[in-house]
This record gives sequence, structure tokens and C-alpha cells, in this order.
Amino acid sequence: MNILITGGAGFIGSHTCVALLEAGHSVVVADNLCNSSAAALERVRQITGKELLFYQIDVTAAALVEGIFKKHRFDGVIHFAGLKAVGESVEQPLEYYYNNTVSTMVLAAACRKYGVKRFVFSSSATVYGENEVPFVETMALRPAANPYGRTKAMSEQILSDAARAEPGWAVALLRYFNPVGAHESGLIGEAPTGVPNNLMPYITQVARGKLAKLRIFGDDYPTIDGTGVRDYIHVCDLAEGHLRALEGLRPGVHRYNLGTGRGTSVLQLVKAFEKANGLKLPCEIAARRPGDIAESYADVSKAERELGWKARRDLVQMCRDAWRFEQGAEI
Ligand code: NAD
Ligand code: WQD
Repeated sequence: MNILITGGAGFIGSHTCVALLEAGHSVVVADNLCNSSAAALERVRQITGKELLFYQIDVTAAALVEGIFKKHRFDGVIHFAGLKAVGESVEQPLEYYYNNTVSTMVLAAACRKYGVKRFVFSSSATVYGENEVPFVETMALRPAANPYGRTKAMSEQILSDAARAEPGWAVALLRYFNPVGAHESGLIGEAPTGVPNNLMPYITQVARGKLAKLRIFGDDYPTIDGTGVRDYIHVCDLAEGHLRALEGLRPGVHRYNLGTGRGTSVLQLVKAFEKANGLKLPCEIAARRPGDIAESYADVSKAERELGWKARRDLVQMCRDAWRFEQGAEI
């Protein structure tokens, strides 16, 4: 298949480019590089030994997107492009609503015009908000109360309605849990600009000495050890999930959780990282972070049943690969 990957230079997008190229698909990337670098695509070429095409465009720009659809005949689109910092979305709501929902509409409209029927969308476990764990695809959504979370729920709705009006459309709404780790080559990974918001990149930067210590946001949650529980998934497993979703997609709208189904607390992750890499991480307990929930983990049975996909990599590999990338590449 010939696939358009928006946001393909980013963390999850670059690993998905690798998975698709290795499976024999052709890839065209559209990314404005607002949170990434073209060097990541060079690394994708290096890992796979294969070529991919790259357009540096903003995918909210309908005319530019159409220009790409005119030039190439796509079999499907994977739409990663988006802004993803929860705190920033509270400070810049209009930028988040515009970027994340308009990009979805522009791409869906181009798909309709050019007869592209497969659409895979990067959604998030954040759409479940405060539901009971494990989160199941059939649950009523309660998106986390921030603009970022709402843009994901809105984009899901937009795509569901669009698919209902277009016979033959096949849409996968992939709800990622907490993607971490990096490609085992150490060549691509998560390279946040500024101080990381997410736990794993914060940990790797503390381990590297770039940050003094990890602050653990709350130890009084009703969880196994009082710290927040999340479902961490290796980014390469997540990338393979996209491949399976794309290849196995049937007409209609399908929601899939992509996680491991296992919850890990902050303290458990810290211990796993220390053990996997033979390091000690300076930590302190701090106040809860506003907006955080106690527990989030997936029921992953639907993806396994319908896509034949299951995460294979464990916490040790996630910690080793994240640390290898941190030590090596500055991209
Ligand atoms: P990322 O920031 O590394 O990648 C996003 C990419 O999209 C970047 O390369 C950025 O330059 C590009 N981009 C943003 N807006 C654009 C626009 N208007 N036009 C063109 N390119 C644009 O983030 P990621 O972690 O790889 O996330 C990819 C997707 O998955 C996002 O939609 C994100 O919301 C979603 N997601 C991420 C996580 C996570 O924890 N990383 C969890 C759930 C969902
Ligand atoms: C994980 C746990 C924190 C940093 C966010 C988004 C979500 C999704 C993934 C895109 C929590 C704790 C963290 C730190 C800490 N993104 N923590 N010290 O909050 O589950 O999800 O990223 O869709 O929408 O909200 O991930 O990595 O920020 O936090 O103690 O310095 O680590 O409190 O329990 P989260 P996270």
C-alpha cells in the first residue's frame, strides 16, 4: 500500500514509518516539523535501508494537502500530526482546537475528494477520563477536562460521522495508552523540546544528569503503592499496532485500545528503570499534578481478537531502549 503519514517525523510517527517500510509499504510523510526534525526521517531511511518521501507542510492547509493528494495515489492515511502537551493546551486552547481538529477535517475532506477510504487516527486513552479501569472501547467517553483531551474526542466524533456518510470508508480510532521506549537501534526515539511533561523522558533526563531529580506527583492515590498507575507500551509495539490496523481494517468505524493491559505505578517504573539500566534515580515525593487520575490501563482483548495484535515488549525493554536513545542521539 501507499500510505500518507502525517506527523511522520514525530515520536510515534517515525517508528510507524519504520514498521510500514519494513513490511513493504510505501510511505509519504507530511509534517511541518513544529515538534520534530527531518533528521528523524533520515534515521528511518538508515534503519530500513528504504526511501520515503517527505513534504514539509502544515496539514491544516487544505490547498497544500490537496496538492499532495493530487500527486500521489494513496491507499490510506495515518494521521499522527497534532499538538499533544496537556498543560500547553490549557494555555493555548485555540491553537490546540484549530490544529488538532482542522487537520482531521482537512485530511478527511481530501480523502473523500480523492477516493481514499482507509483512515487511521491517533486517539488517546485520555478520552476515557475518569472511568473504571480497565478501560474498554464500549465505555461512554469522559475526555479529560482539558482542550487536548477534547480535541481527541472531537476528532473521533468528526471521523465517525464522516465515515457514516461515506459508504466503504474504514476508520480506525486507535486509543494509545502511554507510549515509551525507542527503536532498539537507538537512532530514533522521543526527543521532547524543553523540560519533558511525561514520566519516561523525565526519568531518562534525570538519569543523564540533565535534570536534578524526579518529582513523583502524589503518593496518596488509591493504588498499589499510592503513586499513579499507567499502561506503558513500547513505541515499537504501538507502531506494529498501526500496521495491523491498516492491513486488517474493514469498512466502518472501529475503536481499539493499544496498550499492554498491565498497570505500572510510578514507583514501579522507577525501580524497573533502575534495575534494567543499573542506575539510581534521585526522587522526591511532590504534590499531585492537577488533572491526573489515579489509574489508567487498557482492556486489550478487542485489538487481539480483531487485529491479531498484542504488545510483546516488556518494561525492561522499554526502560533499556529509552535509556539507549537518551544516551545516544540528539535529534
Ligand atoms: P510528536 O509531537 O512527536 O509528533 C507529532 C508530529 O506532528 C510532529 O512531528 C509535529 O511536527 C507534527 N505536527 C503537529 N502539527 C502539525 C500540523 N498542523 N501539520 C503538520 N505536522 C504537524 O507526538 P507523538 O507522541 O508522536 O504523537 C503522535 C500523535 O499521537 C499525536 O496526535 C498525539 O496527540 C497522539 N498521542 C500521543 C501520545 C503520547 O503519549 N505520545 C498518547 C496518545 C496519543
Ligand atoms: C504518568 C504518571 C504522573 C511526570 C499524558 C497525557 C495523555 C497522553 C499520555 C497524549 C502520572 C506521573 C509524571 C513526572 C510524575 N498523551 N509523573 N512525575 O499523564 O498518563 O498521560 O501522556 O495523548 O493524554 O495526559 O502521562 O507520563 O505525564 O504521567 O510523577 O515528572 O507519572 O503523575 O501518574 P499521563 P505522564
